[in-house]
Amino acid sequence: MKLRFLGHACFLLEEKGTVLVFDPYLTNNPAATEKAENIRANYVLVSHAHSDHLGDAVEMAKRNNSLIITTAEVARKCASEGAQSHAMHIGGKRAFDFGMVRITPAFHGAGVEGGHACGFIVDFFGQKVYFAGDTSLFGDMELLGRLEDIDIALLPIGDNYTMGVDDAVLAAKMLKAKTVIPMHYNTWPLIAADPNEFKKKVEQDTDTAVAILAPGRELTF
Ligand code: NI
Ligand code: MN
Repeated sequence: MKLRFLGHACFLLEEKGTVLVFDPYLTNNPAATEKAENIRANYVLVSHAHSDHLGDAVEMAKRNNSLIITTAEVARKCASEGAQSHAMHIGGKRAFDFGMVRITPAFHGAGVEGGHACGFIVDFFGQKVYFAGDTSLFGDMELLGRLEDIDIALLPIGDNYTMGVDDAVLAAKMLKAKTVIPMHYNTWPLIAADPNEFKKKVEQDTDTAVAILAPGRELTF
């Protein structure tokens, strides 16, 4: 599986010709190195409707005939703008042709009336990726770590809107993933954070490896 960081909270997974993108905010994203129109996604997963997450999702899905997977209220918004969407909600699991999606809680605004922000645990051709979305630290991350054998956890560290470095270190301890990749930092001065401080603290306290990815870089798992 290839995992590419596209900046801010946007990640792309690719395996066997299937491309899945999390939170495709590329247009107007100061950290983005890729244009939205160059991304050929089959699946677009959207954690919530704030503009730095919903971003280019609707246009990308319409252009590529991709399926948006998100919570019910955000799915309804995307469908009303002409995109194909599949509505799920927190606690629900569903099989797709690449594997399973479990919708996890995220403590954050939805960006759409009556909704909830969420995270995702995606089993992508046998590897489990936890995309936390925008969230605070919460104690049930320990439960998520027990329910799912997480290979890669994508955690926000930028503070102000989400967990900062020290809370994300506690999250990493609870999740027990093999690898953690920090996200949602340094896009703007307000969410400045030092990923090397995060890496040092996680690796000194846990068996989890931290991979710091610059926007545009990818890893193979
Ligand atoms: Ni947000
Ligand atoms: Mn955000």
